[in-house]
Amino acid sequence: MPHIVFNKKELITTPSSHEGVDFKFIAKSYNFTDYERNTEYKVAVETQEKEFLLTIKNKDQDHMLKIDKVTRVAPVTIVKDALNSYASAVDANIVFSNTNTINVKMEPQKQYLKDINYFVDEFKTDKEIQIEIGFGSGRHLIHQAKENPDVQFIGLEIHTPSIEQALKQLELQNITNVLIVNYDARLFMEFIKSNQVGKVFVHFPVPWDKKPHRRIYSNEFINEALRVLKVGGTLELRTDSRKYFDYCTELLTNLPTGRITIDINKDLPVISKYEDRWRKQGKNIYDVVLTAASEDEQVVIDTDFSFDLEIEDYLEFIKNVSTKPIVEKGFFIHIEDLFTIENKENSGLIELTMGNFDRPVSKYILVENGKLSYYQGNPLPTSSNIKAHKKLKEIISK
Ligand SMILES: C[S@@+](CC[C@H](N)C(=O)[O-])C[C@H]1O[C@@H](n2cnc3c(N)ncnc32)[C@H](O)[C@@H]1O
Repeated sequence: MPHIVFNKKELITTPSSHEGVDFKFIAKSYNFTDYERNTEYKVAVETQEKEFLLTIKNKDQDHMLKIDKVTRVAPVTIVKDALNSYASAVDANIVFSNTNTINVKMEPQKQYLKDINYFVDEFKTDKEIQIEIGFGSGRHLIHQAKENPDVQFIGLEIHTPSIEQALKQLELQNITNVLIVNYDARLFMEFIKSNQVGKVFVHFPVPWDKKPHRRIYSNEFINEALRVLKVGGTLELRTDSRKYFDYCTELLTNLPTGRITIDINKDLPVISKYEDRWRKQGKNIYDVVLTAASEDEQVVIDTDFSFDLEIEDYLEFIKNVSTKPIVEKGFFIHIEDLFTIENKENSGLIELTMGNFDRPVSKYILVENGKLSYYQGNPLPTSSNIKAHKKLKEIISK
């Protein structure tokens, strides 16, 4: 993580600009207790059309300056430039720094790597969609994409080296019908239209025998898969884990209607890295395929994250608001920290985590003269974020 340690200094004056970086305001952590906890500052910066926060903490006699994790932006060179610009603006006496931007590793071709927001705002296709969840080495995904050039593939993965490997292969083999997303597959399908998907492949998912709640398959996942699948479309599990197989067949056979086929040691035209490993160990491979039988209604995603209310007295608000997590059915909300903006009346930052337990989102709310907005834009319009937002408005208006 890029950071700079320098001898303690007066904070930068805001608003100000230095070396192409705008320093907009500084927020100071609020002390909930009588004793002084280590004061932390958030410096709001804007550069190269991105806005984010830098954190300043006390470290013995020094200041430690780094990116605020919640608002981290890419590429890292932008962050390093902002850190260097801050240190230069306050004429810091630097003790340690790893923000040299020379020797930046070239990023692989990212044309086919899409941010989740792309699927909220822009993604449209008339083609059939097929989705592979946890594509790992990408062998199966690449094979399918080459065999089916008229299908739009979406590959979901959360392991960055696997993503980079797949992106390289797409480029080397000139494959143009795959989009790759670094996002939790359990929540991705909320953003896909109903009845447009031909196949969802889940090959050798992590079995999570000790933490079943982390498994890809759940009742919610199966229902979302059925919604996005067109009639005749299939949700295809392939696994070496007998426990996972049993767990999934139980979930699927509890559906009110449906067609399920089961195979043992079926051959596929391509053998993935994990399959290769399990076959060499002589393990059985199980396939469970669910076929969608009905049309589903389109869902309308509610994207209203506005705050139709104001905070009359921000200092009073932060003294009284609860910082305990609030857990309700399908979502939670937790105000984690509160900051005041010193030279701006009735203003501050509220740091919170919200939404779905499996994929909590961390955000800041910027309060300016009592008016609220999500810093760096709204959370993704998932059903759990929308519910959490409604709850938050209730909390604030109390
Ligand atoms: C055991 S590997 C199997 C990889 C590949 N399908 C194969 O057969 O070789 C499971 C993969 O799923 C990915 N994964 C685990 N949980 C995931 C999630 N919630 N969303 C997307 N990918 C996930 C992991 O990063 C890992 O690459």
